Amino acid sequence: MNKDFLWGGATAANQYEGGYNKGGRGPNTFDCMGSGSFKNIRRISCKVDNKIVWIPRNSSLPNGAKGCIADGAYYPSHQATDFYNHYKEDIALFAELGFKCYRMSISWTRIFPKGDEEKPNEEGLLFYKNVFKELLKYNIEPIVTLNHFDMPLYLANSIEGWKSRKTIEYFEKYCKTVIKKYASYVKYWITFNEINFMFSWHTLGISSMDEQTRYQALHHVFIASARVVQWCHANYPQKKIGMMFSMPISYPEDCNPKNVLKTYQEMNNEFFFSDVQCRGYYPKYKLNEFIRKGIVINKENTDDTDLKKGVVDFISISYYHSGVVTIRENAETTGGNLIQLVKNPYLDASEWGWQIDPLGLRIALNQIYDRYQKPIFIVENGLGAVDEVVDIDGVKTVEDDYRIYYFKEHLKSLMDAIEYDGIDVIGYTAWGCIDIVSGGTGEMKKRYGFIHVDMDDHGAGSLKRTKKKSFDWYKAVIASNGECIR
Ligand code: BG6
Repeated sequence: MNKDFLWGGATAANQYEGGYNKGGRGPNTFDCMGSGSFKNIRRISCKVDNKIVWIPRNSSLPNGAKGCIADGAYYPSHQATDFYNHYKEDIALFAELGFKCYRMSISWTRIFPKGDEEKPNEEGLLFYKNVFKELLKYNIEPIVTLNHFDMPLYLANSIEGWKSRKTIEYFEKYCKTVIKKYASYVKYWITFNEINFMFSWHTLGISSMDEQTRYQALHHVFIASARVVQWCHANYPQKKIGMMFSMPISYPEDCNPKNVLKTYQEMNNEFFFSDVQCRGYYPKYKLNEFIRKGIVINKENTDDTDLKKGVVDFISISYYHSGVVTIRENAETTGGNLIQLVKNPYLDASEWGWQIDPLGLRIALNQIYDRYQKPIFIVENGLGAVDEVVDIDGVKTVEDDYRIYYFKEHLKSLMDAIEYDGIDVIGYTAWGCIDIVSGGTGEMKKRYGFIHVDMDDHGAGSLKRTKKKSFDWYKAVIASNGECIR
């Protein structure tokens, strides 16, 4: 492994930071996501005719609804696991793990509380400056996502977020502000987290989830990203700016050509996002789909050039599981990252039904690299599990051998992809390196970390940090640059 390989961990503001109304921060759409799962799907709270209603996160809002935060309801992300007040302690633990890098996101509404202000919120800017200084004190390279599933609530309620072209301008202003402000601290930027999942979620800030509205909003996201990339290249050529998508690799159920074709088409549905951001134009298969469905994207004259000039420097991915594609109806399904997937009889699954497939990571890396020949950064991978704190000779810990096993197998696959297949992977950040709120279900009991945080699903807990068994294991992996798992 290259000695500069960026080993580290990853989190996101909306699931980790807390302090949702502290330091001048404004509310965002994620703040409206309540706890308590409805068929294991988080619900968004909104007001219609002054009454609070809850709706599953990926359905349209009722007519005239405005996102809101209901009094007395519990929202796990409001305090989350409180990085806001614990960042020094947590970064010291990351340093002890030997992190070379740490992926985090900036909360847009901590910088522009409503989204459309003239001037940024200085207290918010200072918070992240302090965080970056703390990271650099330990030589930890910050990898910063500009938007991880958050949209200012004000923009969602007033102009339907990304449905409006105005949002491009607001987002550009936010990005320019932070890229400029933190120019001496941050080299790696990522514009949008899991752009393929943003498309099917309330993170677009739109009220109606029909395809025409979603594709138009997505077009604005593409343009915003491309403009920020262009501006960053022009003003900070030494910086690297990337795209990020979730790579839910799929296998055909068998060699029936119909299943193979369907798999190819479903993979293209995901690659569509990276095709636009890595190649700089809409692929023909998507344009044909638009014609078939009667979808018309309103564009401005400069949009095509912006897309072309705004191609990214690297591709970052999340990888948790694989899926199966079949033309059979009513095939048995299992859980997945924001989606249900067809079961694969060859794989085990996590407690949430996510199918564990280390080899799938190697296949995914090969597919992505073949397609784009750009450096790849794995910025999310990990196992969500129920952990139990135990007392061993007076020392509290979590015996998470299952997590060690998951990481070990995935890292072996990653190293094979680099060393055997020749894939250019620049780094790996384990997801939820410290326990955070689950993004998909809002649970605390679904934990990913090397560090346990005392907090339960109802907001009770001391927030005390405890090292799990995987802490020392990952520390040894980083220290040996992966050699210890060979
Ligand atoms: C990705 C997201 O979809 O998967 C994260 O970028 C999320 O925000 C992660 O936390 C794992 O999903 P979950 O639902 O287990 O938290």
